[in-house]
Amino acid sequence: MPPPQLQPMAFAPAGPLRGSVRVPGDKSISHRALMLAAMAHGRSRIEGLSEGSDVAATASALRAMGVRIERSPTGWTVDGVGTGGLIQPEQALDMGNSGTSARLLLGLIASHPISPTLIGDRSLCRRPMDRVIAPLRRMGADIVASPGERLPLSLRGVCPAVPLAHRLDIASAQVKSALLLAALNTPGVTRIVEPVRTRDHTERMLRRFGARIDRHERDGECRIELAGEAELEPQHIRIPGDASATAFLAVAALIVPGSSIRIEGVGVNPMRIGLFELLRHMGADLRIENERDLAGEPVADIAVAHSPLRGIDVPPGIIPAMIDEFPIFFIAAAFAEGTTRAAGLSELRVKESDRIAAMAGGLRAIDVEARESADGLTIQGSAGRPLAGGTTINSALDHRIAMSFAVAGLHARQPVTVDDMTPVQTSFPAFSETLAGLAS
Ligand code: S3P
Repeated sequence: MPPPQLQPMAFAPAGPLRGSVRVPGDKSISHRALMLAAMAHGRSRIEGLSEGSDVAATASALRAMGVRIERSPTGWTVDGVGTGGLIQPEQALDMGNSGTSARLLLGLIASHPISPTLIGDRSLCRRPMDRVIAPLRRMGADIVASPGERLPLSLRGVCPAVPLAHRLDIASAQVKSALLLAALNTPGVTRIVEPVRTRDHTERMLRRFGARIDRHERDGECRIELAGEAELEPQHIRIPGDASATAFLAVAALIVPGSSIRIEGVGVNPMRIGLFELLRHMGADLRIENERDLAGEPVADIAVAHSPLRGIDVPPGIIPAMIDEFPIFFIAAAFAEGTTRAAGLSELRVKESDRIAAMAGGLRAIDVEARESADGLTIQGSAGRPLAGGTTINSALDHRIAMSFAVAGLHARQPVTVDDMTPVQTSFPAFSETLAGLAS
């Protein structure tokens, strides 16, 4: 294979950010919409699907297993095959960089009588899969993985699978969702206990597709029960804008003097907006306005203006609701007055990159005092003064590292160069153009 072409790009101050924009459709919800539409009987329509390469990986895998997915003038159509209807793909399924595709599809496939192989890029092949492999084996799936229970792996699904009673030992929406998807074609009731709440897009969407799912709190824990052998009804789904993509634009507006922007139609599911709450505690002028419902998910407009920020100790309880936002949060902290401390973040070491190491290294390279611990980071902020910049940052095959340092460059004395912007294609292909549009 030829070496992948790197796409370096320099980011420099370009004046205040002004105007209204929309961001791509929510990546998490897009994966789920495709998978549940694939399991319904008949044609679903999806508007606002994320057009990044992560969701495209899910779509091509489903196509390879017999699901027709096509672009229509108003969005996408999916001709579902019904639960249990996936067929044996002819080739290995390529998950690219996408952990959500890999883990959720492993679950979906586990209760089908087919035997695919899953492959992925260098970043994905380093990420742990044991968290889904172990419970899926208990359901009866036969999984042969690479050393360390990683991709590439082959699985032989089982039908009928054994319904699980499972208590999540890692706060992970991907693990929860994988098991719920496996449960769809499994007889009986699958029971999952979630001691720490995580994003609930799968539960909301299952309900919308007509699955019999119950979710209730007991003793501070969330209990989810899903009746198997589900008959899903096709739906017309509108996907909200991605709160995680919004985070980069919001922090850009907060740190560049004179900025005032509005991001419209953003998903504001409470389990996704921890960053916005935390930034408000740091002094951000960030408003969530015009809240409404879009296909069972709350949506709003986010108005953000440049603000002085104060350093903060991150409360542990907020972590699951901002798990993807730490890279850009650390950039906000680099501009705050005083010290920001975050701990309890060991999961960040197994995301698309080791995000604690990548952020600590990158921040130090642009002259920010950043101290790394086993599970966190302590950052000394500049109190609004521009950062040094003047160096090249390794994006480590991680879209969120690339976008975070791009934002840092907008208020720096020298440009910040990101060594490779191609990872941004996974979630926010028009990121650089959107930023440039707001600055002009
Ligand atoms: C996701 C869950 C989170 C998140 C990821 C998307 C999902 O991962 O980091 O980007 O769509 O369910 P974990 O389940 O590993 O926390």
